[in-house]
Parts: sequence; C-alpha cells; structure tokens
Amino acid sequence: MIIKDARFISSNNRFEKLPKDNKPEYAFIGRSNVGKSSLINALVQRKGLAKTSSTPGKTIAINHFLVNDQWYLVDLPGYGYAQRSKKSREEWRVMLANYISRRRNLLYTFVLVDARIEPQNSDLGFMEWLGENGIPFCIVFTKADKLSNAELQSNVEAYKKRLMEDWEELPPLFITSSETKQGREELLDFIDRQNKELDNYMKTNGL
Ligand code: GTP
Ligand code: MG
Repeated sequence: MIIKDARFISSNNRFEKLPKDNKPEYAFIGRSNVGKSSLINALVQRKGLAKTSSTPGKTIAINHFLVNDQWYLVDLPGYGYAQRSKKSREEWRVMLANYISRRRNLLYTFVLVDARIEPQNSDLGFMEWLGENGIPFCIVFTKADKLSNAELQSNVEAYKKRLMEDWEELPPLFITSSETKQGREELLDFIDRQNKELDNYMKTNGL
C-alpha cells in the first residue's frame, strides 16, 4: 500500500468524542515504551506524527491518525506504567475496555511486544481478555534491530510456544523494527487486505 497522506485528527480520552465517520481503524497497544508511536510513524513515514519518548507514559489519550483519507491508525496509552497513580491507572483501564469493546469500526488490535523480552503476564492477560471478548488481534514484535537474527528467531519461537499453552491457534504475527522498517510492508499489506475485505463485504451486502 502506498501512503499518500497521514494526519493527526484528534486526541481524546472520552469515548463519545472519538471520530464518528466510521472508517476502518487499527489500534496499537502494548506496554509503555514498547514502541507503539514509533511504529505508527514508521508505517506512514512521518517522523514526529505520533509523539515518541524515551520517558514511558507519554501517550495518555486515544490518538487518531487518518491515513490516505480512508482508515485510521490509533495510538493508545501504554499499560503497565507503574508510576501512574492508582486512580489514573483505573481510569485508563476503564477507558481502554470501553474503547476496545464498543468501538464498532475497530477492525484489528495490534498488541506490541518487545522482541527482546520473554512473554509478560500483562501482555498474555490482555490477549486473553481480547480473546474472551471476541476482539481480533495480531501480535507485533518490536525493536527487532536490537537482536541478532538467531536471538530473534529463538525469542519468537519461545513466544509462540508459550502462546500455544493458552491458544489452539496462533494470531497473525509480525516482526518489526521502526529503525530498519522491517515488517513495514507486511503490516501495511495486512491492513490493506482488511480494508478491501470490508469494502467487498459492504458492497455485497448493499451497505
Ligand atoms: P508510550 O507512549 O510511553 O506508551 O511509549 P510507546 O510504546 O509509544 O514507545 P515509543 O514509540 O515512544 O518508543 C519508546 C522508545 O523506544 C523511544 O526511545 C524509541 O526511539 C525507541 N524505539 C521504538 N521503536 C524502536 C525500534 O524499532 N528500534 C529501536 N532501536 N528503538 C526503538
Ligand atoms: Mg506512545
């Protein structure tokens, strides 16, 4: 897919205020600092579109970016950010649950995990919750450039093995790096296919 245009639309923490034009959307979620904002920027090739930081917890609201005037990328606040207050973590949890379970135009959630670290309970638990709620998701390994090929393969295999303890079938997996752009084409192709499938479905059903 060729990215002709990508722009920031809104930053919100209220479900009622999210864009209402019903375009397909794809949300990026994962622990603080995993590389969500960086990957969004790498996908659309616009450095600085989504704010990145080496200080965790930078993104605190639901940020919508419109791509090619057709679909949204959504940058969500990171979870597992211990320095947030208990109250703020609870608010975040409610907002997120609300967004993910109620947002009808959310086609896929991309759960980002750092390729360098072993499966974390917070990520596995979140995936379980997605599964229980029937929310389609993919797993995206980030920061692949920080590992050798051998380390990367071994970590991904170990992750798959851990997932197979809980799941009968693996979700789509992507290996990415915002530095080298590894996985960029694959992710964009995946999104393109989802958009086209939705389009066909709408046409076939006269919607
Ligand atoms: P929060 O918004 O705080 O939840 O973080 P985030 O998940 O959006 O992470 P962000 O994109 O801000 O990246 C965090 C740090 O990791 C930054 O210092 C990035 O430069 C770095 N980083 C992100 N992706 C990559 C990558 O693919 N390779 C390398 N080497 N560094 C990366
Ligand atoms: Mg961010």
